[in-house]
Amino acid sequence: MENILIIGAAGQIGSDLTIELRKRYGAANVFATDLKIASKEITKGGPFEVLDVLDDKRFIHFVIRHKITQIYNLAAVLSGNAEKLPLQAWNINMTALLNMLDLAKEVGIHKVFWPSSIAVFGPTTPIKNTPQLTVMEPSTVYGISKQAGERWCEYYHNRYGVDVRSIRYPGLISYKTEAGGGTTDYAVEIFYEAIKSKKYECFLKEDTTLPMMFMHDAIKATIDLMEADAAKLSVHSSYNVGGISFNPKELANEIKKHIPEFKITYKPDFRQAIAESWPQSIDDSIACKDWNLKNAYNLSSMTKIMLDEIAKKFNTV
Ligand code: NAD
Ligand code: SER
Repeated sequence: MENILIIGAAGQIGSDLTIELRKRYGAANVFATDLKIASKEITKGGPFEVLDVLDDKRFIHFVIRHKITQIYNLAAVLSGNAEKLPLQAWNINMTALLNMLDLAKEVGIHKVFWPSSIAVFGPTTPIKNTPQLTVMEPSTVYGISKQAGERWCEYYHNRYGVDVRSIRYPGLISYKTEAGGGTTDYAVEIFYEAIKSKKYECFLKEDTTLPMMFMHDAIKATIDLMEADAAKLSVHSSYNVGGISFNPKELANEIKKHIPEFKITYKPDFRQAIAESWPQSIDDSIACKDWNLKNAYNLSSMTKIMLDEIAKKFNTV
């Protein structure tokens, strides 16, 4: 039997991942934790505790007390917020990862998951169909922390045999919890504003293409990777995962098919430079080959679900 710990369960990914893991592994076996109190769906649906992953003593006590066998560690400061307080973001992102890797080594955790990001790439990386192995010179503190994190993951795997698995997520789009301070957040905010006020001022330029992924596909990919046969995995840093590439204008046009009066305006801020340093599309053929990555959603099916679900939240249907 697996006992699973999720760190960062109140966040954008954690709130969807917790629900799906509880369905598959049983609610009592999936321990959700975060610095802040999660939604009622998470706190009432199974065990939830406030836990700071930077507090290594409480972290290890928690893991031993609940006989944890797998950890998903989602705690991080995302790209936009990290640029406001670079050294604090570096400290949080690195300590959160290193506490987990070292604990996994010492306690003998079966498997751990830690997300990387397309932010590991930088302005000198090929921007189209970016390969798994390529030039990586990230220009944000978030990207630097993810790149260093990937090196640490591979090091703990090679040196200590820690079974650490990771995905370089593209921008993730979901309706359960709002996005947490990243550069791709526009692609979540736009749906809320389309429903609430039928207009949106975008902080990226209209032609800024980025790789994105609907949360349902991201959660499936994450659990598929965690359940894959270890012998088939050839990447122990982090796997490229592609999703759907589009720009704000294309997304706005898709929303207009459902809300014809929707209007988008553009006022690029500091996140424009971050977005321009990231790839436009990703080659994820190694993930397809090693663990059969498959996505189910495209721009059109994702847009319909996002609008329907957010409308339900605001009782406009
Ligand atoms: P989020 O900001 O929505 O959630 C992160 C959660 O971690 C928050 O609920 C926060 O309270 C919690 N947290 C922060 N510090 C903590 C600490 N010290 N102890 C315990 N919990 C702490 O972020 P997210 O979008 O869910 O992202 C989760 C992970 O996935 C991050 O590592 C992020 O870099 C990565 N990622 C996200 C995306 C995306 O588009 N959402 C894309 C690429 C990578
Ligand atoms: N969505 C994330 C961000 O924009 C990418 O890791 O920060």
